[in-house]
Amino acid sequence: MISPTILAFETSCDETAVAVVRGTEVLSNVLSSQIDLHARFGGVVPEVASRAHVEAIRGLTHRALQQAGVHPADLDAVAATDGPGLVGALLVGHSFAKATAWARQLPFVGIDHMEGHLFAPILEHPDYRPPAIVLLASGGHSQIVHVKDWGDYEVLGSTIDDAAGEAFDKLARVMGLGFPGGPAIDMASEGGDPGAVAFPRALPDRRHHFSFSGLKTSVMTYIEKAEASGELAPLADVAASLQEAIVDVLVAKTMNAVEDTGVEVVGGGGGVLANRRLRQKLTEQCAERGVELYLPSPLLCTDNGAMIGAAAVHWLDKNVISSWDAVVDPGRSL
Ligand code: KG4
Ligand code: ZN
Repeated sequence: MISPTILAFETSCDETAVAVVRGTEVLSNVLSSQIDLHARFGGVVPEVASRAHVEAIRGLTHRALQQAGVHPADLDAVAATDGPGLVGALLVGHSFAKATAWARQLPFVGIDHMEGHLFAPILEHPDYRPPAIVLLASGGHSQIVHVKDWGDYEVLGSTIDDAAGEAFDKLARVMGLGFPGGPAIDMASEGGDPGAVAFPRALPDRRHHFSFSGLKTSVMTYIEKAEASGELAPLADVAASLQEAIVDVLVAKTMNAVEDTGVEVVGGGGGVLANRRLRQKLTEQCAERGVELYLPSPLLCTDNGAMIGAAAVHWLDKNVISSWDAVVDPGRSL
């Protein structure tokens, strides 16, 4: 197979991301982050996000093509995230991609955002193949997926309340660390003692499911009581301890899935997989079990266009393309 050259768009939330991939090779991968626009609100404001995507997408597309050294006439297909995500944000990338494909009479491929995260490891590890147990943890989702084959996904477990990234974001807000919370807590935990404060590990009896909403209450209660008694641990210790509570659960449930399925390949995707402590613990636990671990580098864990391109390469090869009347589906699930 000659590797197809694909222009891929990801606009499901607060990053306008455009990439050009050729097979599993990333020719360019550019993005315009809206973090500064949303930071003062402490979270993503959907209407602000849609408008920022509209403003950024044309210039970014030119940049992606230019950096890749690819002329639009050299493209074989165009792809875009079609869900899940914010409907207005999704519509911008999806419509722009479809219009670009239509103008060039190229196939258009709509891709599930979470499937994009599932494909991300292949961009740096072309030999990465199912079957695999994949931990997906982002701002909107936390799932353990048994990838039996590309396109054949069994979601073994998911969160019953907040996603792991959402937990990081909410906890950072409680601690006054700003937005987005994951990177802030990751940084703040540096040099901290992860055993300093014993925060709870939720749902020990559910092998593949998560719950993170209770953690917010216990961190708030701890801070209130410790402040009142003058025994508040240093910030790095609190950050490292709550990070450990999230990481422990994510790793334990992933290892449960490995044990229960006998699958010997583990993958990861989503912004939370950029977390240094999570990467370290997954690496240790997989090595202990002799299981192969494939993690994308941090920039390919968070939202990007290249992962959407990687998934599109697969579906294009199977002749699965979208119709011109394809629509976005904000509530789509794997
Ligand atoms: O996959 P992603 O970029 O966007 C969504 O699809 O949601 O994930 C964003 C989430 C945010 O909640 C952010 O706080 C979290 O990933 N995140 C991290 C880190 N970097 C990003 N969480 C923990 N540690 C990090 N280093
Ligand atoms: Zn994502």
